[in-house]
Amino acid sequence: MPGVTLDVNGKKHTVDVPQDMPLLWALRDVMGLTGTKFGCGIGQCGACTVHVNGQPMRSCVIPASAVAGQKITTIEGLASNGELHPLQQVWIEQDVAQCGYCQTGQIMSAAALLNRNATPSDADIDAAMSGNYCRCGTYIRIREAIHTAAQRTGAGFYNAAPAAHKAPAADEAAAAEQAEHQV
Ligand code: FES
Ligand code: FES
Repeated sequence: MPGVTLDVNGKKHTVDVPQDMPLLWALRDVMGLTGTKFGCGIGQCGACTVHVNGQPMRSCVIPASAVAGQKITTIEGLASNGELHPLQQVWIEQDVAQCGYCQTGQIMSAAALLNRNATPSDADIDAAMSGNYCRCGTYIRIREAIHTAAQRTGAGFYNAAPAAHKAPAADEAAAAEQAEHQV
């Protein structure tokens, strides 16, 4: 079984997995990164959202081999230099989570939104988060928390943040979008 080299949270890992193993399985079961959650397994709920080259992707439907060498960020890699991502901090302060199961995916989608739009409107947030389901109904708190994080940090944080927080280059975004459509 040939190895697949995955660049996860700034570190390269070569893992022995079948070429068609979903990225989610490789992250959770092989690499032990269990912060990313399994929900529906068919790309519909958003629980498994990670970033690939800064774009939110459903890791349950992307073969690990399809994103070999691309920059993958999971919830474990969202904090930077020992500090929580502003969204993580606000999530705690504003008590966003209920059961918590969907919240990894919610935060990863929200982080990708703020990377490309530092001051989103309600409509921007609703559009960006529409693929992330919460059975506990925390949508209102999620929207408020995104606004708080945006107000607190402004564009400066996202423009000056490390690679994991930056918007991808246009070609990376296009490649990521193409990869999503291929699965
Ligand atoms: S577990 Fe991947 S979208 Fe639901
Ligand atoms: S907090 Fe329970 S599913 Fe979202």
